[in-house]
Amino acid sequence: MNLQNTDSKPYTPRVTLDRTFSIAPMLDWTDRHYRYFARLMSANTLLYTEMVTTGAIIYGSGDYLAYNEEEHPLALQLGGSNPKDLAHCAKLAADRGYDEVNINVGCPSDRVQNGRFGACLMGEPELVAESVDAMKQVADIPITVKTRIGIDEQDSYEFLTRFVDVVSDKGCTDFTIHARKAWLQGLSPKENREIPPLDYDRVYQLKRDYPHLNISINGGVTSLEQAKEHLQHVDGVMVGREAYHNPYILSQVDQLLCHSDKPQLSREEVIELMLPYIERHIQQGGRLNHVTRHMIGLFQGLPGSRSWRRYLSENAHKTGAGIEVVRGAIALMNENAPT
Ligand SMILES: Cc1cc2nc3c(=O)[nH]c(=O)nc-3n(C[C@H](O)[C@H](O)[C@H](O)COP(=O)(O)O)c2cc1C
Repeated sequence: MNLQNTDSKPYTPRVTLDRTFSIAPMLDWTDRHYRYFARLMSANTLLYTEMVTTGAIIYGSGDYLAYNEEEHPLALQLGGSNPKDLAHCAKLAADRGYDEVNINVGCPSDRVQNGRFGACLMGEPELVAESVDAMKQVADIPITVKTRIGIDEQDSYEFLTRFVDVVSDKGCTDFTIHARKAWLQGLSPKENREIPPLDYDRVYQLKRDYPHLNISINGGVTSLEQAKEHLQHVDGVMVGREAYHNPYILSQVDQLLCHSDKPQLSREEVIELMLPYIERHIQQGGRLNHVTRHMIGLFQGLPGSRSWRRYLSENAHKTGAGIEVVRGAIALMNENAPT
């Protein structure tokens, strides 16, 4: 299939996205149920899908691009390194209404390296640049890159700037930088999110040296106060694990970081808004815990949160479980919370 635009129109993105705050792509975590839940708490946060490989989209049998309309603004993260395949998938994503396509140049897993994509692509900036170029020819949405500050022994600032030079030269203007390098041998993906030290200064330096590029920082951010501090130095902050384990922090993003005066929802209001969604999911043949597993951290840090977590974990996977389990978890939590 030839997806190439024959006229070489200048690239004009369909929408201008607010990149002040985003939730990181996380495999198995940021699925469409989590994203629906997150969106209830923040209208401004840019959401990323889990990484989807070009192979899954092109050759797989499921619909890997499905999402709920409410999730916008929404970016699809792609894993792949074949420019033609990436372009094909970017076109499909744009046609399906995604607001952005992001290329994964940060994942260090062996499986991903065998497919020659993820963090190892930092060593092949020309290939990433060629991919960006091919994707931009066919998709009128931003094509962005999420990467690291280095890989293995290639961890100099010059290595990072060379990557950014080559890729931005083909028109990629938005980079999210996980502020630690990846060790491609010997560390698991989990260890690669903890062991190499964070170097925020390097990302700040990048923003100073490339003021025309939109630079978001990622890695180790656990509060909106920290996010605010980073925003003194960079354009955006991407949060991963904290947004998943302690999702209610999202409910303050719009007011604290995005100048919104919309009132913040209470946790109970968020749950009430989830119930019709859960019922629809179950009516369509889904299971309760597909959705509630993402809601386990909603009461993180509050009295009674353990009862909420335990009740959901013990009951939501049972055959026939419905929203009465969620109501039961709230009741138990209220009973067990000290007054
Ligand atoms: C469970 C899990 C799955 C992840 N999957 C992806 C992924 O699909 N694509 C990606 O670029 N990064 C992935 N990451 C890395 C995150 O996007 C992020 O870069 C990392 O967790 C650091 O941010 P944090 O310290 O705020 O969590 C994953 C992280 C976790 C915890």
